[in-house]
Formats: sequence, structure tokens, C-alpha cells
Amino acid sequence: MSNLNGKKAIVFGGTSGIGLETAKILAEAGAEVVAVSRRGSLGEGNEGMTIEIADVLDREALESLFEKHAGFDFLVNAATGGARAIGPFLEMDLDGFQGSFAKLWGYVNTVRLGTPKMAKGGAIVLLSGYPARKWRPGVLAIGTVGNAVEGFIKMAANEIAPVRINGVSPGLVDTPMFPMEGEARQDYFSDTTKNNLIPRAGKPEEVASAVVFLLENQFVTGTIVDVDGGAIVT
Ligand SMILES: NC(=O)c1ccc[n+]([C@@H]2O[C@H](COP(=O)([O-])OP(=O)(O)OC[C@H]3O[C@@H](n4cnc5c(N)ncnc54)[C@H](OP(=O)(O)O)[C@@H]3O)[C@@H](O)[C@H]2O)c1
Repeated sequence: MSNLNGKKAIVFGGTSGIGLETAKILAEAGAEVVAVSRRGSLGEGNEGMTIEIADVLDREALESLFEKHAGFDFLVNAATGGARAIGPFLEMDLDGFQGSFAKLWGYVNTVRLGTPKMAKGGAIVLLSGYPARKWRPGVLAIGTVGNAVEGFIKMAANEIAPVRINGVSPGLVDTPMFPMEGEARQDYFSDTTKNNLIPRAGKPEEVASAVVFLLENQFVTGTIVDVDGGAIVT
């Protein structure tokens, strides 16, 4: 990887899972990293980063954050946003379905308010998810949100150039997003991934390395990279 000395990255959701692993890779490469979430750091692994507390749905907080760090180079948004509606569409609580779009609004807020404060040559990466292009029981709402995120990336790429924007679409990844523990957790991961070409849950660092690739490679914009163990082609 290149030396990222002198680069500054803001990573929303940078205190857990995929965002945390991205923040760690960037910091190890010499970038100055600001990890942002609602609760700040809850565990180990954020050493060497600045932690900021902000909700991606709070536009005022985002405006002051971007003003404070104006001139930054990289924006990553891996924040889940809020609660997600899981379950059969015909039984779904419609407020819950609508609430799942908090992820999209959090992404839109950060791109809209963050882009004008970025350095020339800046780059943005957002996280979609394999349900956007792979139906399976229970994921219709989050798949619809993922579609909106991917569409937003492609549309926004035209309007924010020369700042680049891309997405990474993870398959099932073993992160704190899943609360189950022990055998129940392993059973869930094995069962959900058993028909994938690579039948296991991904590691957050496997997704984070794709995020960093998209930040660094200056000939890529408006696209989505799938890091999903072959989930969507089966
Ligand atoms: N893990 C998977 O299997 C998987 C699969 C497909 C797609 N994805 C997507 O990948 C992204 C990262 O997922 P993950 O598994 O790494 O999640 P995670 O481990 O649960 O981490 C989510 C992070 O987002 C922060 N966050 C959530 N809502 C926020 C808000 N409103 N404002 C600011 N920060 C907020 C959380 O911190 P606080 O709670 O402190 O705010 C945390 O740092 C998400 O977009 C997710 O939908 C994940």
C-alpha cells in the first residue's frame, strides 16, 4: 500500500466492524484518521485515531465536524444509521421499513455536507450490502436501501467530480452488527453462507482492504465492488 502520510480521513462508523478495520489500515499507512460514531470508542483498536462523537443523521453536528476538519482527503461512511427492518415484506411494519432508510440519509448527509469541505483529489467510499442485488428471505427492506445507496453513488459521481465516490458491497461479515454469541453465532454464519462459493462469513478486514483500494486508486469512480464470498453469483 502507498504511504498515506499527510492524508486525513474521516471514517463514520469507524469505531466498530468494517469501519474500524478501515480506520486501522489507514492509520497504519500513516494517514491521520478521525473515527466518528454516536457513542465514540467502546473497545480497543482505536489507538492512534481521533474519536469524534456525532450522529450521521444530525446535520448540524456534521457541519461543525466538517468545518473543524476542512481540507480532509478521504470520507468513508460505514455507519449503519439506525434500526433495520428484517422479515417478510407482507408482514413488515411500514414505519420500520421506512426507518431502515436512516442508512441512506446518513450517507447522503455526509456526502452533501462533506464534499465541499474536502481537499482537491478527495475520495469517498460508502458501504452497500449484498441484499441489494441478491434476494433471500427477510432482506427485502435492507436490499431496497442497498439499491438506493448504490444508485446514489452512481448519480452523485457525476455531480461531485473531480471528487471520486465508490461503494463496497459486503457479503455476510462477522462484525458486532450481529449480537448472537458462541454456537448460535457460528450456526447463523454457517447456515447463511452455506450456498456461497466461499462458504463462510467474511472478516471485516477483507472488506476494509477493498475500501482502501477505492480510496487510493485514482482511476475509479461511480462503481461498486462486491466483497461477498461469491454470494450474489449463486
Ligand atoms: N456485517 C455485515 O454482514 C454487513 C453486510 C452487508 C453490509 N454491511 C454494511 O456495512 C456497514 C458496516 O457494517 P458493520 O457490520 O461494520 O457494522 P457495525 O460493526 O455494527 O458498526 C456500525 C458502526 O456505525 C456506527 N453508527 C451506527 N449508526 C450511526 C449513526 N446514526 N451515526 C453515527 N455512527 C453510527 C456505530 O457506532 P455507534 O453505535 O456508536 O453510533 C458503529 O461504529 C453498514 O453500512 C452495513 O449495513 C454489513
